[in-house]
Amino acid sequence: MRTIALTVNARPVTADVEPRLHLADFLRERLLLTGTHIGCEHGICGACTVVIDGEIARSCITYAVQCDGAEITTIEGFTEDPLMARLRAAFTVDHALQCGFCTPGMIIAARDLIRRKGSLDRQQIRQEMSGNLCRCTGYMGVVAAIGRVMAEAGDRPALPPATSTIGPAPGPGAVPAPQERRDAVGRAPAESAGERLRPDSQALLDDISEEGLITLADSFAVPHPPDRVWDVLSDLQTVAGCLPGARLTAQDGDRIAGEMRLKLGPMSPRFAGEGRIRRDDGTRRARIVGQARNGASASRARARIDYALVDSGDGGTRVEVEIGYALTGTLAQFSRGAIAIDLVRRLTATFATNLEAAIAGDADLRREEQEPQPLDAAGLLGAVVRARIEAWLRTLFGRGG
Ligand code: FES
Ligand code: FES
Repeated sequence: MRTIALTVNARPVTADVEPRLHLADFLRERLLLTGTHIGCEHGICGACTVVIDGEIARSCITYAVQCDGAEITTIEGFTEDPLMARLRAAFTVDHALQCGFCTPGMIIAARDLIRRKGSLDRQQIRQEMSGNLCRCTGYMGVVAAIGRVMAEAGDRPALPPATSTIGPAPGPGAVPAPQERRDAVGRAPAESAGERLRPDSQALLDDISEEGLITLADSFAVPHPPDRVWDVLSDLQTVAGCLPGARLTAQDGDRIAGEMRLKLGPMSPRFAGEGRIRRDDGTRRARIVGQARNGASASRARARIDYALVDSGDGGTRVEVEIGYALTGTLAQFSRGAIAIDLVRRLTATFATNLEAAIAGDADLRREEQEPQPLDAAGLLGAVVRARIEAWLRTLFGRGG
């Protein structure tokens, strides 16, 4: 047990708590502040959102002991708050709740958004609020209510009537939804086998947002000189072939389209999208930016990959890679946390092995026509989890390496 002293809704509180007790349970079960709801207990749904020292936070993934000395405000602490009063009224007018389970977290997040950003358009509100999930409303009323309060507070006109967007919001920093297009048999681009380059995407790809990207740096060695490695990396069919599940479907100068097939247990989502590559032959540096979507799961991915070739001085090359990625929508839960980062590292290692084989001429990885085997993400994830558990057990029992 640890003794903590904190302020909750302007009231001093002292309590003895188990170190494992999370703040949401502390608030609900010890202080009986049941307006803080618990949905996923994984930091995903936002139902448990509270304010800690002026910043919104997920109370389900915050330990109560971490809040020793902190000032907490729950939904019950906002009864006198004028902005919250306006939000409550707007949520009523715009039918922004049905069962109300998400509502405390939703309006705490909305209040924070209005205070930070003032006035936003509908798409921006959807993006900013994508960390709060609602199973009832379809989000239309939520976005309208927040837009109404923003319009009242500033000089921005009220949001125009919604047109077509429905379903979960796309996620922080998500790219704007691509223009819906159908192929000859009525399939949306994500399901189309031969994704073509779209003329409307250039500006987007020139300026991919860094907001919300999870970034990591890695490097690998290839026992071939930099010129040779650079040459092979200029063949984008081979580059795509080095990545399990990936395939290049179109190329026009520096613009590319491709797809990635994953296997996640019974699901086999296919992400189709487009990107742009810029290469600097002088410095042997390159940047690839891209975005993709999977219609069935309403998920989107965007990524930036920077790589540079460095002469390692022994006839080989060190490839320095920095990856920034964001996954939003239903599959976003797979993009968070240390395990996802391990997964990306394993993919980088697989890429390095395949690249080496391609350079050595041991494998022809060009996949212009053939369908690649999907990337078995669940299997890879299982291997990552096993490796982490083994490492943890070694640490626990002090066996070393
Ligand atoms: Fe905390 Fe879902 S219960 S984020
Ligand atoms: Fe029911 Fe949002 S109103 S979960």
